[in-house]
Amino acid sequence: MTGAAPDPDRLIALAEAAAREAAGMLVTRRAAGRPGVIATKSSPTDVVTEADHAAEAMIIERIRAERPGDAILGEEGGLRDTEPGPGPAVRWIVDPLDGTVNYLYGLPDFCVSIAAEVGGDVMAGVVHVPERGEVFTAVAGGGAWLRTAGRPAMRLRCTTGVPLARALVATGFGYAVARRRVQGEVVAALLPLVRDIRRAGSAAVDLCSVAAGRVDAYYERGVNYWDIAAGGLIAREAGARVGGLAARPAGPDLTIAAGPDLFAELSGRLGQLNPERDG
Ligand code: IPD
Ligand code: CA
Ligand code: CA
Repeated sequence: MTGAAPDPDRLIALAEAAAREAAGMLVTRRAAGRPGVIATKSSPTDVVTEADHAAEAMIIERIRAERPGDAILGEEGGLRDTEPGPGPAVRWIVDPLDGTVNYLYGLPDFCVSIAAEVGGDVMAGVVHVPERGEVFTAVAGGGAWLRTAGRPAMRLRCTTGVPLARALVATGFGYAVARRRVQGEVVAALLPLVRDIRRAGSAAVDLCSVAAGRVDAYYERGVNYWDIAAGGLIAREAGARVGGLAARPAGPDLTIAAGPDLFAELSGRLGQLNPERDG
């Protein structure tokens, strides 16, 4: 697509509408009972349900209806023209259900995560957490916001000035056994150095929790781009630094998010633990 750069406010409006629709469908389906597992991915516990597929199909249809020329990268194979071209091409990054295991078990921390990249940069992102009635959004340069039904929108700020020793740190674990062994070693080494650890079960929710000051930091090895594209923008717009080790960008090797001082302290500690290896 060429021509004028798309308006980020229109992108976020579309992302929010698509996320709301899919999130509503997920809640309705879950109310009917535990979803059927239709496939496994990296390990027998890395499951895909019918709901993941239905949500992705719904989101793609909604985006296509309004912006038929855009590229879409969806976790469940909704992969179309995944290389962003030069200029103002738009690519949507979709995790239709982040926190599938929570969804399976009826735990509330699952969400729909949709981000819009323009020319390769994430410009807008939404993380919709329907069971909590919370919608986190950000547009690049416009701050991070939380809307909860019946309450005024709240601008989000991550915590600052928290030393590692008093930090509440969220993390997550991949599905593959060899990687989990290393992740267990790393978290065991970190646990005595921090206030406490949280494992919510959704990387996108974890990043929003950093943005909202509900945790001080988040780190995880093995996340995919769709896990962090929207939540990463929301955390950054709330003042957090989001990156990897040794000034590398956030990504599958390691993703760390925290206020700048804590980011430096946590990434220094993690670097000593060699967290990017697989057992
Ligand atoms: C997973 C969740 C989880 C994280 C995993 C992700 P999924 O995504 O975000 O919190 O620890 O690394 O794969 O499978 O529920 O979409
Ligand atoms: Ca995910
Ligand atoms: Ca998913």
